[in-house]
Amino acid sequence: MVMVDGSLDAEKIAGYFKGKSILITGATGFLGKILVEKILRVQPDVRRIYLLVRAMDAHSAKQRVEAEVTDTELFCLLKEKHGKGGFELFVEEKVVPLAGDVVFENMGLDAPRLEELANEVDIIVNGAATTNFYERYDVALDVNVMGVKYLCQFAKKCANLKMLLHVSTGQHFSLVGFVSKNADWMPQHLQPATGKG
Ligand SMILES: NC(=O)c1ccc[n+]([C@@H]2O[C@H](COP(=O)([O-])OP(=O)(O)OC[C@H]3O[C@@H](n4cnc5c(N)ncnc54)[C@H](OP(=O)(O)O)[C@@H]3O)[C@@H](O)[C@H]2O)c1
Repeated sequence: MVMVDGSLDAEKIAGYFKGKSILITGATGFLGKILVEKILRVQPDVRRIYLLVRAMDAHSAKQRVEAEVTDTELFCLLKEKHGKGGFELFVEEKVVPLAGDVVFENMGLDAPRLEELANEVDIIVNGAATTNFYERYDVALDVNVMGVKYLCQFAKKCANLKMLLHVSTGQHFSLVGFVSKNADWMPQHLQPATGKG
């Protein structure tokens, strides 16, 4: 979908989602809800969007998805397009909230749900992460490292998987730039080599 001249073909990207089922983690987050809205708006013929959210049970997952994703102002264009009742039916048909947590193997889903997902899903977008830079190390490791590992393991079980997209928490790149520009506050042994002397 990236053209020879390096541009992106928006029509082909939207077309790619037609009839596909997508599992999205991190949908209650900043990027996740934007992605959900965009897919539903530009490709209403997406088959289904599964949203894995942290919740005690299916009912709470549904409540979270409504309160933190589909009922937010971001979805006003879709509401205008479908009308209030139509929008609710559209979301009901396309969006499947799942109660889960990426820190657990199989995202903490039960076997029947997992099997359904493994058979159904064409695309996985992993946006679940802790983005708190002061997070406890063990918590950050569980979500940002083990969570990715478990998701990759699940991806291998998906018979029809075409794409696994991991949205990275790769702040070490910015740090390198930051360190080299601000080296004077760094301890000697961490300072970047100047190439002088
Ligand atoms: N925002 C940006 O501009 C930007 C730019 C480049 C890269 N990124 C990367 O993109 C990813 C998402 O960023 P964001 O800004 O959308 O982050 P965010 O607003 O902090 O959202 C994080 C999402 O991950 C979910 N999550 C956290 N722990 C989880 C767990 N154990 N199981 C399931 N879900 C869990 C959160 O759910 P809860 O609601 O339950 O907490 C939330 O939905 C991160 O890796 C970030 O580094 C972001």
